[in-house]
Amino acid sequence: MSSNLRQPPRRHSTLRLFVFKAAETLARMLGGRAFYRSLNLRPGRFDVREELVALPPHCSALDGVSIVQLSDIHAGAFLREGDLGAIADAVNDLEPDLVVFTGDLISRNADESLLVIEDLARIRARFGFYAVFGNHDYRHRRESEIAATYELRGIHFLRNESVRPLGPDSPLVLLGVEDLEEAKSLDIQPAREELRDCDFEVVLSHNPSGARALLSPVTGLVLSGHTHGRQIDLPVLRDLGPHHPGDRVDVDGVPLITSHGIGVIGVPLRVRVRPEIVLVRLTAPKVDA
Ligand SMILES: [Fe+2]
Ligand SMILES: [Fe+2]
Repeated sequence: MSSNLRQPPRRHSTLRLFVFKAAETLARMLGGRAFYRSLNLRPGRFDVREELVALPPHCSALDGVSIVQLSDIHAGAFLREGDLGAIADAVNDLEPDLVVFTGDLISRNADESLLVIEDLARIRARFGFYAVFGNHDYRHRRESEIAATYELRGIHFLRNESVRPLGPDSPLVLLGVEDLEEAKSLDIQPAREELRDCDFEVVLSHNPSGARALLSPVTGLVLSGHTHGRQIDLPVLRDLGPHHPGDRVDVDGVPLITSHGIGVIGVPLRVRVRPEIVLVRLTAPKVDA
């Protein structure tokens, strides 16, 4: 299972990295953070995308469970202390059962994770807040430090681990997978050993492109990020980012939902794609009277 999930890390050329860094530095000096905040992070400037996911008949006990997904915050040059206040308020207004974060907390350095920890720790969820790492979060291999710091604030990183957040008798299982490009290990079999036939498994995988390999045994859904919805959705420029299968695709009947994310990389700009909070509602099939 682990070998066919792994993807080669997507390394940019030295020239491209230099151009990215120069553009980021210039944009920061010109007020890129304030620009991004005012255009994208104020109330009304981001979306709440609701996705209904049908439950199989044996999981009807999960009818009405709500999961809020956040992704790709990319704390750093353009997103810092206090910038997620409106996002945190909007999530709390939804009164979710669960909140999940699908990776890319930082941009370049593990210390950037501290910039947004207070805003994220304000978020409330009835059954907890869980997260996975994205490819950016492994910079300098300090991701364990991030996980330990966030754990103290009630945010639990799942590293090829699963939990039953609604309780030991609930069929809802949350499985967090390490990033498919940067992880040292992708062995998720131990986390699946206690899966029951009637479970509904929700997989958190930052990178959606390995979803086909993940999906074959998944009984529930997959939540991903990484793509930023292309961030700059214009000809040529859109091809600079990751290729992705879309906002929501069904693979053999299993939904794969890919978030547009919250933050940005490179430039403080989104074109034709707003930041978003994804709200997943699990719904039981209607029974005819
Ligand atoms: Fe990202
Ligand atoms: Fe990513």
